[in-house]
Amino acid sequence: QTGHTTLDYGFVNTSATKSAITFIDGDKGILRYRGYPIEQLAKNSTYLEVAWLLLYGELPSASELEEFDNRIRRHTLLHEDLKRFFSSLPHTAHPMSVLSSATAALSTYYEHQSDPGNPEHVELNTIRLLAKLPVIAAYAHKKSIGQAFLYPDNGLGFVDNFLKLNFGVLSEPYEINPVMSRALERLLILHEDHEQNASTSTVRLVGSTGANQFSSISAGINALYGPLHGGANEAVLNMLAQIRDSGESVQRFVERVKNKEDGVKLMGFGHRVYKNYDPRAKLVKESADEILSELGVHDPLLELAKELEELALNDDYFKERRLYPNVDFYTGVIYKAMGFPTRMFTVLFAIGRLPGWLAHWTEMQRDSQTKIGRPQQLYTGASERNYPGVV
Ligand code: SDX
Repeated sequence: QTGHTTLDYGFVNTSATKSAITFIDGDKGILRYRGYPIEQLAKNSTYLEVAWLLLYGELPSASELEEFDNRIRRHTLLHEDLKRFFSSLPHTAHPMSVLSSATAALSTYYEHQSDPGNPEHVELNTIRLLAKLPVIAAYAHKKSIGQAFLYPDNGLGFVDNFLKLNFGVLSEPYEINPVMSRALERLLILHEDHEQNASTSTVRLVGSTGANQFSSISAGINALYGPLHGGANEAVLNMLAQIRDSGESVQRFVERVKNKEDGVKLMGFGHRVYKNYDPRAKLVKESADEILSELGVHDPLLELAKELEELALNDDYFKERRLYPNVDFYTGVIYKAMGFPTRMFTVLFAIGRLPGWLAHWTEMQRDSQTKIGRPQQLYTGASERNYPGVV
């Protein structure tokens, strides 16, 4: 404590804002969007209905939802010039880098309509981002596998259009897979918001300077990319594959984690807020077996993940530190069974989180208390000294 500031690394004990969007009780493992329990929304709602709820505070009427859906469908096309942007990147580019840079590039087409103080611009760019981010995401996927980009199919709903953009090919008709659609809808809903996590706080901080939605969302995507945050779903699959390929026992791996050998962590475990089982992880785990069997996929990595969880939940090291599976622990096995490459997993997290980012950006813009995010620091550097020769 010096002067009037307290050092609080990672804002562990700091509330940066008030918000009415999402409620989390980390000790009880509770998550609610605008008061509705995540379990009920995941089982009964849709991605766009929940997006409206997060953005506007209430569930939409049937006509509001239909109009919202139709408006989004009419904004799915990217400017044709933007397609050249993708060809300028190496085919080895990580889809998250493609997503964040293409989102910033998207901003250049709408600079004349991106005034954060203009409610019509804000509402229109919310629609544009909800409509175009999935298309950019699918293009990042197609680029990474060297396949031609498809055009959005506005005759399809949000999730089916996204799946077709990712898995459809020009040479044959695309068949909707209702199992995949329902599974992805539920997974996207589980990711739509999570109050002041690192990427949402990033979106709020960048937006607090007056930056527009495209720039703020692009910053949020970059924050999500890190393996300690959204990048963990990709890191979990790499961790499981590495254990399988190395032939190392899960017991030996867990010992290495406990000894912190080479900084190894049990990816997909632990959380800043949840000191209990992440309610999303519970829902994902419950549906993992069902989805994989409905897709006719048997993946030994799912069994390996369950074995790891079982071991950790009964180990004092993890119990003392209140480390439980988080949302990223089981999602990758399902994304893999759907056919997504591992490096697309965090992109799917970003598509899920987009409505939450937009809702928080808008809430922050409308909050008269909002000030530019500018924390203080405790200075530990050199005291005053003169440049050589200066007296
Ligand atoms: C997401 O904030 C959100 O809401 C995020 C998110 C969202 O929806 O937006 O929920 C999504 O990002 C989920 C988290 C995904 N990340 C991972 O799975 C990566 C592995 N997890 C950790 O890196 C860690 O648990 C964090 C970053 C998630 C949280 O870390 P904290 O709160 O800063 O806690 P910490 O790092 O100080 O850990 C406390 C103790 C330490 O032990 P000691 O040094 O005191 O001995 O627990 C240990 C840590 O070493 N620990 C782990 C561990 N996580 C914490 N040890 C092994 N494996 C882990 N995964």
